[in-house]
Parts: sequence; structure tokens; C-alpha cells
Amino acid sequence: MSDPVFLRACRGLPVSHRPVWLMRQAGRYMEEYRALREKMPILEMMKDPAIATEVTLQPINAFPVDAAIIFADILTLPEAMGLNLEFIPGKGPVFHNPIQDMSDVQKLRPLNAERDLDFTLEAIRMTRAQLSSDIPLIGFSGAPFTLACYAVEGSGSKNFDEVRAWMYNDPDRWAALMDRLTDGVLDYLQAQIDAGAQALQLFDSWAGCLPVQAYERFAAPWTRKIMEGLGDQVPRIHFAANGGHLLEVLADLPLEVIGVDWRQDPRQVIKRVGTQHVLQGNLDPALLLAGEEALEEALPALLDSYREAKGHIVNLGHGVIKTTKPERVAQFVTRIHELSRQA
Ligand code: CP3
Repeated sequence: MSDPVFLRACRGLPVSHRPVWLMRQAGRYMEEYRALREKMPILEMMKDPAIATEVTLQPINAFPVDAAIIFADILTLPEAMGLNLEFIPGKGPVFHNPIQDMSDVQKLRPLNAERDLDFTLEAIRMTRAQLSSDIPLIGFSGAPFTLACYAVEGSGSKNFDEVRAWMYNDPDRWAALMDRLTDGVLDYLQAQIDAGAQALQLFDSWAGCLPVQAYERFAAPWTRKIMEGLGDQVPRIHFAANGGHLLEVLADLPLEVIGVDWRQDPRQVIKRVGTQHVLQGNLDPALLLAGEEALEEALPALLDSYREAKGHIVNLGHGVIKTTKPERVAQFVTRIHELSRQA
């Protein structure tokens, strides 16, 4: 039997239709999710493998998406290394003991994913056992830079000004923190492959706050180490939200798929990164809020704008917005399949 469409597309092979999945496809826009979430805090959901499996499968059962992504969060990794995590309703994630100096960096516990993040690995094994063989399961981690942002600033922030200053101020201390996070991310992602993840995505949600030269010096070397460490066992996807200015740097890293943020023009992206990489993206998530007609009108143009790419995995240009109607997600996925089958 031939590989599932999503995995073929990751490798740039010919496909019967363009595969579609959505970042944050499991979450609060789904009634089934909210019903579970009412009963328990988010971290508890993620730490219960049966619940995490159920949530991972909710969008698979509701929509004909071409891949599943394991229900977890990027911040459980720094939590497992010793930072105290809380999701505060209305405020978002907070670490109560952020990294301030070198001694805090040295106090971080080296990660052993099998011991410390087994709840997610077990959820991957359980999900894989329940998913049909034509739907691949994507594993993920935060990229070291984005994890360092939360670890140093302690919470979300507009541009992570404090983090950038802390990084410039003492490059050796920065490198020590990035080394430790990178070891953890590599261990975690390898464990996810071993548990059954068939593709991996690195979320670098805050990379966009760095100037290009700073990204090259303070973030890319560690992302490269992860991508090289993994090798091509499974397709490697990289997504830098708001990172349009970084595309040339990303295209120089060893990975198969580059995620495109919703602000970018795909035709320009193809000119800039060339045709060595498959692209993933990048419908504006607000088009799923805009109504049936506006969405319908946007889809042929989206498909057309990637015609010259090595390959195209259809996705949003960032996560699903929580006020999205499930009908719009259904329309998006179904129409992309229909339109790209005809083409
Ligand atoms: O894509 C998926 O469906 C997989 C699940 C997933 C979650 N978080 C579940 C989640 C993924 C891939 C993430 C990644 C993640 N987490 C990122 C990178 C992706 C991005 O959007 O750039 C970041 C920055 C985080 C950190 C984080 N976790 C934030 C900022 C929040 C929102 C907090 C809030 O109160 O709004 C979370 C919580 C979270 N992670 C939710 C989900 C479904 C919402 C939690 C809820 O139900 O209250």
C-alpha cells in the first residue's frame, strides 16, 4: 500500500489531492473539546493520555483532514526541566520561577522524555493504535528560541524585549540555556518518533521578533542541531510565526517542509526559498471567520499561488481562532480536496 497523501506531500512526491490539516485543529472552537475542558484544567487534560488521545481524535472524527497532531503543549518540556507552569485563565501560560541568571540555567534538570513526558508519549502510542492507517500522526515541540522566550520572560509578551536584551547582554549564558533546551528537545522528539510520530513540526512562534542577523546567531544554530540530530527518519516541518523575513535562513536548514505564515505571498516565498522545500500554509485564519462566500472565493487563489512549489500541504498561516465555526473548517477541508482533485 502506498504512503498516506500527507507523507507523500512532505517528501515532494505526486499526490491525488493536496493534503490539509490545521494548526490547533483540536481546541476550543470545537464543542466536543469545550465539553471535556469544562471538567478539567488544560494541563490535566494533556497529562491524561486517554483524554489527550480523545482530543487528538476529535477533529479527525469531525473533518476529513489528512493528518492528526498530538494534543500536547510546547511548555510541558520546560516544565519537566524544572520551571513551574500554570495556565492562568484570561492571561495564558506563566512560569512562576523564570530563568534570571546563570545559576538558574545550571539548575535546569536534563530532560529524560521517557520518564518526564511519558504522558505525551503514551498518548502518541494510544492515538496511533486508534487512528486509521491513512492518517499520519504529527508530533511536535517548541523550538529552543521560543521555549527560551517563555523561560526567561516567564509569560507571553508582545516582542519579548527583555529576552532579546538578556540574550545580547551575555551570549555565553544564552548559549548555555539554548544548549540545555536543545538537548531536551532532541530527546523529546526522538522519543516521539519511537512512540509512533510519523512527522515532526518545530514551532518557533516567537522567532519573528528577532532581526535576521540575530536569528542567525542566537537561534538558528540550535534549530540546526535538532534537525541534524533527527536526520530524515520522518519529515521535518518548521514553522516560524511572523517569520517572513527569516525564510532564506530557514531554507538553509536541513528540513523537508517550511511553514508559511499568513502574512506572506506564496509566490514571493517560492522565489525566495527556491524549490528544494515543500511549503505548508498559509490561509489567513481570519478567512475562517469571514463567512462561507469569502472563504469559498479565497480557496482557488490559495491553491494557485503554490502551483510552482515543490509540493504544498494546505494549512492555515497560524492556529485556528477560537471563535471559528466548525462548519467553516469542514468547508475548508472538503473544498480543498475537491478543488485540488480537479486541478
Ligand atoms: O495544533 C494542535 O491542535 C495541537 C495542540 C497544541 C496546543 N498548543 C494545545 C493548546 C499545539 C501545537 C500547541 C503549541 C503551542 N503552545 C504554541 C505554538 C503554536 C503557536 O500557536 O504559535 C504556543 C506558543 C503555546 C503556548 C500556549 N499554550 C499558549 C499561548 C496557550 C493559550 C493560553 C490561553 O489561555 O489562551 C496555550 C494553551 C493551549 N494549548 C490551548 C490548546 C488547545 C488552549 C487551552 C484551553 O483550552 O484553555
